[in-house]
Amino acid sequence: MFYKDTYISRRARLVSLLSGEKGLAIFLGNADSPQNYPDNCYRFRQDSTFLYFWGIDEPLFAATIDLESGKETIYGDDVDIDDIIWMGPQPSVASRAETVGVHSTAPYNAFFETVRSARKAGRPVHFLPASRHYNAGCLADLLGLSPRQVVSDGKKGCANASAALVKAVISMRLIKEDCEIEEIDKACDITYEMHTAARRGCRAGVPEQELVGRMEGVTLSKGWGTSFSTILSQHGETLHNPWHNAVLEDGKLLLVDAGAENNMHYAGDFTRTFPVSGKFTSKQKDIYNIVLSCNELAFEMAGPGKTYTGISRAVALNMLEGLKGLGLVEGNTGDMLEADVAGLFMPHGLGHNMGLDVHDMEDFGENLEGYDPGQARSPLLGLGSLRMARELRPGHVFTDEPGIYFIPALIEHYRKNGIGKDFIRFDRLESYKDFGGIRIEDDVLVMEYGARRLGRYRLPATVEEVEEDMKQNK
Ligand code: GLY
Ligand code: MN
Ligand code: MN
Repeated sequence: MFYKDTYISRRARLVSLLSGEKGLAIFLGNADSPQNYPDNCYRFRQDSTFLYFWGIDEPLFAATIDLESGKETIYGDDVDIDDIIWMGPQPSVASRAETVGVHSTAPYNAFFETVRSARKAGRPVHFLPASRHYNAGCLADLLGLSPRQVVSDGKKGCANASAALVKAVISMRLIKEDCEIEEIDKACDITYEMHTAARRGCRAGVPEQELVGRMEGVTLSKGWGTSFSTILSQHGETLHNPWHNAVLEDGKLLLVDAGAENNMHYAGDFTRTFPVSGKFTSKQKDIYNIVLSCNELAFEMAGPGKTYTGISRAVALNMLEGLKGLGLVEGNTGDMLEADVAGLFMPHGLGHNMGLDVHDMEDFGENLEGYDPGQARSPLLGLGSLRMARELRPGHVFTDEPGIYFIPALIEHYRKNGIGKDFIRFDRLESYKDFGGIRIEDDVLVMEYGARRLGRYRLPATVEEVEEDMKQNK
């Protein structure tokens, strides 16, 4: 937990951002989530916004701020004798509330009564979109809506949620405080160790699952766990490949995209792609070096006043220039960009916000969290997938994760539909259909001048650094 004053000043700032609003701002923490029956639950993970303002990392808590009187209340139940038998004694709700500077507490069910009374009295109830089914059910019940009406649609957000509250929370969580940056650095340090474990264990004959276990063991022994489901695959062209059931083979590239969540629940998210054998082939090296130059270009360009859309365009042009050098595309790179050629090779965006969640605040709607007002989403496949487009400001934390992928079905889709036909050498792409994919990802903090990569150390990135490091595996 951070110091009490951190939570007090966050809530004071929130109230000042909502100064024109009336009614209640409500915050529903998460409940335990059963795997199959109620007494066997997934490991508890608190709602990130609840953690941000109220700090309590336990199930079945809620909070309200009365925007007119300024009164803050935390709702939760003290343990009874039955709970003590199974869980041991626990701090009282009142003492937990004191640790975050809140002096008024009430039983959990009083939260629901308070919201119902406010509604009955015609007072506005400001809520954030729910990210979990349990919370969606509770909010829907309270507000007379269906569960689908209290969650975001993914990009646009949730039309029924409080626009003012969503906007205020996003504006605060987007700009990381010093104490948060310290935690993200720690999460990135664990992430570095996870990746080191995978790379050191990488040799032909090893099951992918074994490397996943070694990596996840690192973060479980030092932090809370993983910040998302580990991607570790020799099929890097499948962007979020969730399977780890193959055995490592010489000649293949292994893409590892994984991150730690530390004990304060801040995320790290790195990707590296390396040859199972420890030596890149010249064909692999050529593509790898283009991706690396894209990653470094994005980092060099990052700084206050730049937009991530602008940086993404520059990166896409750089990628196309590199692919042109290899003879895989031809023509003017600006024209290629407009013809969606970059999307064939990199159908995802360059990066996303990161913080308490690896894709920070996407539960509020990607357009609200990742785009400035008035910034339009590109209609193109690659650039249109950009999750973080904003003008960069000091305190922004986001990922820099370009990639080049040879996705046989997408190549066929482009060919059949004539997309980019004036530029793409489909004949030459034939020999890349079993290439896989390469992604290189670092986490970046915007500073007052320029930017820095998060974490104490950068994972090996150049061909030479990777090959030198992997010599130890022999
Ligand atoms: N969670 C995978 C990524 O966005 O990099
Ligand atoms: Mn990643
Ligand atoms: Mn990422």
